[in-house]
Amino acid sequence: MQAIARPLARAAPKHVRCIGSVSAWSAVPAGPPDPILGVTEAFKADKDPRKINLGVGAYRDENGKPYVLNAVKKAEEILVQQNPDKEYLPITGLPEFTQAAAKLAYGADSAPLLSKSVAATQSISGTGALRIGGAFLGRFYPHSKTIYLPNPSWGNHTPIFRDSGLEVKTYRYFDKKTVGLDFKGLTEDLKSMPEKSIVLLHACAHNPTGVDPTPEQWKEISDIVKEKQLFPFFDMAYQGFASGSTTRDAFAVRHFVSEGHQVALSQSFAKNMGLYGERVGAFSLVTADPEERARVDSQLKIVIRPMYSNPPLHGARIAATILRNDDLYGLWESEVKHMAGRIIDMRHRLHDNLVTLNTPGDWQHIKRQIGMFSFTGLTQPQTKVLAEKAHIYMTADGRISMAGLNSGNIDYFSESVSKAVKGEL
Ligand SMILES: Cc1ncc(COP(=O)(O)O)c(C=O)c1O
Repeated sequence: MQAIARPLARAAPKHVRCIGSVSAWSAVPAGPPDPILGVTEAFKADKDPRKINLGVGAYRDENGKPYVLNAVKKAEEILVQQNPDKEYLPITGLPEFTQAAAKLAYGADSAPLLSKSVAATQSISGTGALRIGGAFLGRFYPHSKTIYLPNPSWGNHTPIFRDSGLEVKTYRYFDKKTVGLDFKGLTEDLKSMPEKSIVLLHACAHNPTGVDPTPEQWKEISDIVKEKQLFPFFDMAYQGFASGSTTRDAFAVRHFVSEGHQVALSQSFAKNMGLYGERVGAFSLVTADPEERARVDSQLKIVIRPMYSNPPLHGARIAATILRNDDLYGLWESEVKHMAGRIIDMRHRLHDNLVTLNTPGDWQHIKRQIGMFSFTGLTQPQTKVLAEKAHIYMTADGRISMAGLNSGNIDYFSESVSKAVKGEL
């Protein structure tokens, strides 16, 4: 971690009225920049026309441009015609949205959904869902205040759960040697956790590695979680992005639920609907029965109310319109498939280019990995030289957003990576 600069206490300028002779904030240390958003800053400052930003996890179309889904545009047209008011939503959000989101995740035939035993709330996208979940578990989960995250995990998980009052520990997940899943390490660590601990699982398209367990491995994980009575908290930020099918990507969540696990679930519609800035998400918990659900619902409201009162309207209306209208749903599914397909295509092209360029190393993992990101295996010095010499920006751990690649930049990117690996940049 970067060193934090500690300011010297300075006398405040005359226009500032302070308590004592110094400003109240004179001892606030400068924090380190966000590791992912910092990459975007560096990219923006670069004037070279060849520059590429592979840092941020946002989908880009074939021309490298942000993509507003047609399903979203059509839903917005419908909403304009309906001319809805802008009144406050209830604390737990738009019921049509939360019900449709739960159906998308758990499946229409899910037993706890059919028995009305899923407590659900709208959230400020996936981040907000994780934060509500962290706060709820911190307050009410009776068996443990420790959450285990995969190593590595999305960079924001640790601060989210720490700020929720949970202790954060990790379990093994990624094998640097194979650039794949460390399934042995993962299962060993699950088995050695204290019983009833909370364990965070990426439901699909693991960020940052792009490495997911297979369905068979998920079944084994579910068995161990059951044996050790662990509490599974799923983060599903990419439903549809891994395989192109929202159903296939929900396998892990649905399997766990069918096995009787009481899961917690965070959902985001940032990526799969391209609603990044609209902040559309949901948090849900499987409870024992409708009476218990009502109690949990009442406490979710008490967690949320002092945080932000109630969630924003527009994005939830868009998502609900798409999820509840057969035509728009079909269009959306085809667009999710298209986005996932374009990413998979880029994986193949990058792999083939690197092999054709005789780049030292095995690049199979680029094709094997799943979802928006690839953990390339590039070292920190290689990522540095790529930024400085080739104007290509990625996080220092060598993670690239595959969605930032397209026909216009894939060759330049492959050649630059190949040179960086050969030490020729
Ligand atoms: C694993 C994971 N979880 C959650 C999120 C939350 O994203 P948002 O708050 O934009 O929905 C992200 C975003 O990158 C993510 O990668």
